[in-house]
Amino acid sequence: MNKYIEKAERTHKLTEDELVSLLQDPSSSGELAISADRVRAKYVGSGIHLRGLIEFSNICRQNCLYCGLRRDNPKIERYRLSEAEILELAKKAKSYGYKTVVLQSGEDIYFSVKVLTNLLYKIKEMDLAITLSLGERSLDEYRAFKQAGADRYLLRIETTDKNLYEQLDPGMSFKNRKSCLWNLKELGYEVGTGCLIGLPGQTLHSLAQDILFFQQLDADMIGIGPLIPNMDTPLAFAAKGDFDLTKKMVSLLRLLLPEANIPATTAMETLKADARVIILQAGANVVMPNVTEGDYRRKYALYPGKICVADTPAQCRCCIGGKIKSIGRYVAQDKGFRSHISTRS
Ligand code: SAM
Ligand code: SF4
Ligand code: FES
Repeated sequence: MNKYIEKAERTHKLTEDELVSLLQDPSSSGELAISADRVRAKYVGSGIHLRGLIEFSNICRQNCLYCGLRRDNPKIERYRLSEAEILELAKKAKSYGYKTVVLQSGEDIYFSVKVLTNLLYKIKEMDLAITLSLGERSLDEYRAFKQAGADRYLLRIETTDKNLYEQLDPGMSFKNRKSCLWNLKELGYEVGTGCLIGLPGQTLHSLAQDILFFQQLDADMIGIGPLIPNMDTPLAFAAKGDFDLTKKMVSLLRLLLPEANIPATTAMETLKADARVIILQAGANVVMPNVTEGDYRRKYALYPGKICVADTPAQCRCCIGGKIKSIGRYVAQDKGFRSHISTRS
């Protein structure tokens, strides 16, 4: 076995240079996946957690250069779901057997503390775990959402290269992004973060630093995905993120953060058919099937080629269930909070 993979599996630690050496070695991918799959089985088991994704607004005050929801994109057809529509989708998510709903949107300030906390109380009555992914808010807002029942929060750091971050997310500050993550930790959320793979100017050292940052934060969830260039954004002609590099990143994340919940993300499947099944066998243990209905799926257009745009939530549930069974795994029946095996033993 490659000596760094053996070390990572045994100690769950690698230096930045060791990570880079594995990321740049074209022959390490298969061995990394096998090792990560062993660590996944040992720390988080064979159950796969399904989180029902509700894309409730594509209105955004930010202007990230890669994202179709950016405020300066005039081509996107904007929408915002009503409280009743969101509650209906949450109810349906529950009926498909999902134990968690992920409420995701652009940075849409219509969803004030008052509007959102009302909604959270009602969803909580359905006995669902709630993950929020609404972008940057103040400490007080995060506190109010937590008190109203939010359990988890997803906020990708996108890249730990400060200059690159501030160039690609104009008007946003890297310092604030990091303090949001620490604030969420402090408030007792399960914190999810992650990065984009293949940003123009991103280096392997920067990706290695991303992994070390997730370790330092002790992230409970890490969602990564390849950049998929969107023709209606300034990054229209950037190269796509590389699938094999994304897969290696997932395996390294599992080796270095063995207890984390790691999803096989939708963007990966835009790059490669059956990507989620491949990634679930390379360290991942979570899938986030879309429960947004009808034309809203298409309108939540972060990038082109999004999968499942023409499918219904019921079709997605059935499809993903079949894929999970085909690889000898099963759909977990609990809410899927982060495991704490190492601190228990
Ligand atoms: N607005 C919130 C935020 O930025 O944290 C949550 C929604 S945002 C659409 C969710 C994620 O989409 C971002 O963190 C980003 O990594 C990803 N994303 C945006 N544009 C993308 C693209 N062109 N290709 C792949 N992922 C993209
Ligand atoms: Fe808005 Fe999030 Fe897209 Fe940035 S990534 S433009 S914050 S939706
Ligand atoms: Fe949507 Fe396969 S997960 S159709």
